[in-house]
Formats: sequence, C-alpha cells, structure tokens
Amino acid sequence: MLPDYTPYKNLPPLAGLCSIEEATKPGLPLDECVRRLKRFHYCFKRLHEILTARITSEPIYELKTAFAHHAYLCAEHVTALRQRISEMREPPLGLEDVPHPALEAFFDEIRAAPTTEELVSGIVFAIDAIDLAFADYLNQTHPLTDAPSKRVLRFANLELDDMRSFYQVATDALGAKPHPDWYLSLVAILAEARGIDGSKPEPESSGPLPRQYSRCPFTYDPIPKRDERFTDLWNQGVNAEAFLYDETKPARAKVLMMLFKRLREIDVPEMMAGIIAQTPGKPWGYYRDMSRQVWDEARHAMMGEVGFVALGVDWTKARITWNWSYRLNTECSPLERHGVLFFIEQGLMPRTGKRYEYEVANESGIPIAATIQDFDWADEVLHSQIGREWYVKQFDNLQAALAFGDAAWTKITSNWTTVKEQGLTQHANWWPAIYQQACAASGTAPDQAVLAYAETYEGKRADMKGVVGE
Ligand SMILES: [Fe+2]
Ligand SMILES: [Fe+2]
Repeated sequence: MLPDYTPYKNLPPLAGLCSIEEATKPGLPLDECVRRLKRFHYCFKRLHEILTARITSEPIYELKTAFAHHAYLCAEHVTALRQRISEMREPPLGLEDVPHPALEAFFDEIRAAPTTEELVSGIVFAIDAIDLAFADYLNQTHPLTDAPSKRVLRFANLELDDMRSFYQVATDALGAKPHPDWYLSLVAILAEARGIDGSKPEPESSGPLPRQYSRCPFTYDPIPKRDERFTDLWNQGVNAEAFLYDETKPARAKVLMMLFKRLREIDVPEMMAGIIAQTPGKPWGYYRDMSRQVWDEARHAMMGEVGFVALGVDWTKARITWNWSYRLNTECSPLERHGVLFFIEQGLMPRTGKRYEYEVANESGIPIAATIQDFDWADEVLHSQIGREWYVKQFDNLQAALAFGDAAWTKITSNWTTVKEQGLTQHANWWPAIYQQACAASGTAPDQAVLAYAETYEGKRADMKGVVGE
C-alpha cells in the first residue's frame, strides 16, 4: 500500500463511502453477492406473503393493521432487491425460484403457525436471523465495488429493525413464546438451509426436514376475525351515507359518520388480502401495488380510530361490522372482489365522493378531520390508478371492467332481514351513543334532530350503488 496517501486537502475519500485503507481489502465475489441477495429477496417475499395471508384471520386489530403495514414494507424491499439483482450480470434472474428447500420449509412453518402468539414469535425468529445475515453481508461485501447493494440493504435494515421492535413489544405484550419443540425445529431447518444467506457450514445430520406445523398444505383462511372490542358484527342499523349526504345535517356530526366509515374500512384489507393470497402468478408489480393499497386501507381505518379518540368518543360503542369483507370473501371469486372494489372506488371520484368528504371535514372546523380526509382523498386517487393498471387491463375496455364489478356487486343481495331472523343482530341504533359522547366531550348540547337519526340500511341494496364502502 502506498504510504502516506491522502485525499486532496484531506477531503473525505471515495465519495464518503469508506476509508482508502478499508477499500484496499477485497470483498465478496459478485456471484456470492448475487446468491445472498437472492436469498434476502426470497425472505422478504415470503414475509410479505405470510403477513398478507394472515391479515384477514388475525383477530387483533393492532396486529391486523401492523401486518398490512409490514407486508407493504416487505413488498418495497422485494422490489428494490429485484432491481439490484437485475443490475448484476444475472439474466436469467431466476427470482421466482426457491433458493433452498429448507429455506422454503422455514417460512412454510411460520406461515402455518397455528396461533397469533406462535406466528409473532416465528416472525421475530425470522427477523433476527435475517438481521444477522444482513450484518454479515454489510461487513463482508466491498464498500466501493458493491456500494449499490449496500445502499439497498441499509434501507431494508432500517425497516427490518422497526419491524423487529414492533414484534418484540408484541411478543412481550401477548406473552408469546414459540413452543420449545417448534423452536428447535426452526433452528434445525434453518441450519439445514445453511442459514438465511446459505453461507453457514453444512450441518452434520441431514435427515428429513423436521416440519411441524407445515406438514399439511397451507390454505388461506378467508373468514375475517376480530378481537372482542368489535361486537354485533352484522349490524346494519345506522345508514352512514344517507346522513353524510343529507344537506340538512351539520358538518360536525357528519365528521363522526365519516370517522365511522374510515374505521369500518378495516374490512378492506380483510378483503384485499384474500385477492392477493388467492391470485398467484402475476408480475411482481401487481403484488407491490396491491399491498400498497392494503396498507392504505388499513391506515384509513386507523385514521378513523384516531379521529374518534381526538373527539373524545369511545369507538367501540359504534358497530364496526364485517358484513362487507365476510360476504365478498365467501361469495365472490378473487377477480369478482377486485371488480367490486374497483367499481366502488370509481364511485368515490365524482363530486359527491372524496372531494365532498374533504369539504365537509373542512367545514366542520375540526382540524384533524380535514387532515384525515385530505390524505384519504389522495390515496383514493392512487387506488383508482392501481385499479386501472391491474384490474381494468384484464378486460377489453373500462366499460366491460366496470360492468363485471357491478354484476359481482349485484350478486351480494341485502342480508338485512336474514341476519335479523337468524338472531345474528337486532340492527341496534348505535348513533345516539356516539353523538352524545362527542357532544359531551366538546361541551355542546345535542341537536335533537341529529340525535333522533335512525335511518338504517333496511331495503337498501347491499352495495348502496357505490357509496357504502371505502
Ligand atoms: Fe380507503
Ligand atoms: Fe381505496
């Protein structure tokens, strides 16, 4: 090495990547980098798949929404890794191949975890293992020659750490620990894969993989589940849209109905997760974009939650129902569900849709309501574009795509009477309880006409022709 070599005027050398001395040491060969990056790509793809597939059937709302978030983050890192691998002299890319059967089994096991507690402890196990493999890569690859990969992994690491923090707190809160036998199986299976990155020594005994939960083929569970704060799940006792579009009603009360509609949107991730889980073989961009929308819809639900808390309202007194996701998931094909979603979202774009909601929020003088509706509107514009890209293009034209969605929606006839007769709900009117709480918190007297609101969904088409959902 040249002694006393210094950069000009002692400026940081090598564009700030590392010291000259560090850069004089060799790094991993390119082929080895590609091999490991493909494994990281596979890990994020599987985590994305697992988290998505559990959104619907996870009862706990805080986890359901977190799964939507983290599945989206994983999808973004899959996208970034695919891009990077494609730059590394590597066609054919083989990005849909399984890097090692034991790595596949490792994620199959987590996907098949029978309880929430096992699932989150399995996710923590996987994230810890990926984190170690990332650290090895970042230490061993050349900081100058492989700077583009290092950059991709640094960003991925940031969000992987966020996920780890979340699931560590979650496992503590739930008292979740993997079953000791299962834990040993995960250790053994991962050893068989020679670690996440495939760089660990071959294990001594290589008998059959000690699968436990994944011995049976995995099937996606389309039935939505909710935690105990969600009650009376078939209730259709308060027609939120009829109130919202009634010109005689005050904007502040309409905000409560909008917050209800936002929080009720938790049914959209429950429904969309199934479209993703049950539609294999699409280009990766489909899964990335659909996952972005799943995450947006989970955020919309959380915006409703936040709005209610801000206004001093206990949202559990409203009825955050699952009628929509339950029925679509059990009565429509994935493509029909996508059609229904697109059909409804098209109805949100005209003057009476998202712009109107934003204007009502502004008029209410409730600042958080305006913030919520402002961004909700923007998200819906994006969703309309996602629908045009991935749903409409499967049809000859926009009209055919809309007609397919409309026909699927029409199939879902109103169950207002059936669920009442079956004793599943009495369609109780929850509105006065919500409205009175908001009035009490703001120190205002209830408007008697608003308090008396009692219009239900009885006799309405289940679809409300595009004003119901989301
Ligand atoms: Fe939404
Ligand atoms: Fe949407």
